[in-house]
Amino acid sequence: MHTEQIDFWTGTFGKEYTDRNTRDQQEWDSFFINYFGCTKIDINNRCFGHLPKDAKILEVGTNTGMQLAGLQRMGFSNLYGIELQWYAVEKAKEYTKGINIIQASGFDIPFKDSYFDLVITNGVLIHIAPKDLPAIMGEIVRCSKQYIAGFEYYAEQQTDINYRGNAGFLWKMDYEAKYRELFPTLKQAYKQIYPYLTEQEQGNKDCMYLLEK
Ligand SMILES: C[S@@+](CC[C@H](N)C(=O)[O-])C[C@H]1O[C@@H](n2cnc3c(N)ncnc32)[C@H](O)[C@@H]1O
Repeated sequence: MHTEQIDFWTGTFGKEYTDRNTRDQQEWDSFFINYFGCTKIDINNRCFGHLPKDAKILEVGTNTGMQLAGLQRMGFSNLYGIELQWYAVEKAKEYTKGINIIQASGFDIPFKDSYFDLVITNGVLIHIAPKDLPAIMGEIVRCSKQYIAGFEYYAEQQTDINYRGNAGFLWKMDYEAKYRELFPTLKQAYKQIYPYLTEQEQGNKDCMYLLEK
């Protein structure tokens, strides 16, 4: 499947994003503490910290693998990622150790049905055009045996946002509810709203959620 957003992320914008947002794990922790008052590892632990440490986990849209390196620090050992940008996949080889990160699209996940215990996205669904959500969410649900998680920009209603001067590349909504609307057999296992604490981002919120098949 080919979309306008795929061109955006595999082009100059994507490369610049990758250069701008690659942080070592200490900086990555500080980034989350600044915005939410706790680390992403704390946020993950509250949501799916109870999963066995050998659970097979796929992140869709890994960029250089910061989130997966965080999962590794939590003790998870069976980690996979897919990422659109070749540039970020190359950088992920330097950034991560012992994590399987390959170039692929979330619209066509190159793994068989139910291959993973958990499939997760972090700030990726927000960059998918709402009309394409059934396709990518369908792929994510297909590859998961049990759990689907996400940490995404939240709003009760779908909202279009201008992204660094670009229209049509960023949205916020209730992604957990969207999954259940599209796949009504999914059950909500966890949902927590995280308001941004910084003045600049006042009123903005992210949501961490876990769905169970
Ligand atoms: C905002 S970044 C988030 C990166 C990472 N998940 C994190 O939290 O640090 C979004 C990433 O998703 C990737 N991406 C966008 N659409 C994708 C798709 N259809 N399939 C796979 N990756 C995608 C982009 O190239 C980019 O690296």
